[in-house]
Amino acid sequence: MRVVHTVAELRSHLKAFSRPALVPTMGNLHEGHLTLVRQAKPLGDVTVASIFVNRLQFAPHEDFDRYPRTLEADCAKLQASGCDVVFAPSEAELYPEPQGYKVSPPADLADLLEGHFRPGFFTGVCTVVLKLFHMVQPSAAVFGKKDYQQLMVIKRMVSQLALPIEIHGGETLRAHDGLALSSRNGYLSPSERTQAVQLSQALQNMAQSINTLQLTPAYLPALEANASQQLTQLGWQVDYLTVRLQQDLAPPLSLVSTPLVVLGAARLGKTRLIDNIEA
Ligand code: PAJ
Repeated sequence: MRVVHTVAELRSHLKAFSRPALVPTMGNLHEGHLTLVRQAKPLGDVTVASIFVNRLQFAPHEDFDRYPRTLEADCAKLQASGCDVVFAPSEAELYPEPQGYKVSPPADLADLLEGHFRPGFFTGVCTVVLKLFHMVQPSAAVFGKKDYQQLMVIKRMVSQLALPIEIHGGETLRAHDGLALSSRNGYLSPSERTQAVQLSQALQNMAQSINTLQLTPAYLPALEANASQQLTQLGWQVDYLTVRLQQDLAPPLSLVSTPLVVLGAARLGKTRLIDNIEA
């Protein structure tokens, strides 16, 4: 496995290949990231993982400074997972000058849910992902469904900008208790870690109610409010718990034969967690 830090090294190494498959990450890798790498392997003739903590997608009060940087351990895990190239650029390499040109995704998809609670987040994500795409020139890229809205925003960017890249979604990997694996789980204290499963349980319960109770959309606000109230009583600060259409994340007008997804974001202490379950 080659570890490269500059675009020049990356391009020179990738010259020998015609169909790179890319997995973009911010590092501090866990098994969830590694399943995406294994999924990417058969999609191309060389598997590239990028590791870059992208300042542009963090608001000033967010955890950019304390986001864990663990390059050596990440490279060991990537090598064991069959990754061929790690692209780990410095900030000066990725942003040699202030990034004045930015990719601003459409409000109807990017200003709701995560975009509502993290203004500018998806602009930061799209901008860095487009740059990574230009640097690696992959024919395929894999993103996790754990970040459901992010996957949709990227798919639509690739489609609208006519990029010749196949975007694949990877299933969310969970710990034994059901907590979605996330680099941010490392911020949780032992007691918060025990409690953290309550988020995925709340989403499961909502999905189960929809599937078993034959609810109509008119009941959804009450279902959502109820679930939020329960998590709040358990000590969480809830940003949202909501039932949406898988196709565009709009609130459903019918619950019959429409693929739905239940999405949630909530803070436990100082740690903000997100998760979702397709219903
Ligand atoms: P990061 O949070 O490091 O996640 C990298 C990729 O791993 C994303 O596609 C994410 O959805 C996926 N992932 C995270 N947890 C997962 C899990 N439990 N199971 C499966 N996949 C999981 O997402 C980002 O980085 C950044 O926004 C990025 C796209 C790299 C742009 O900076």
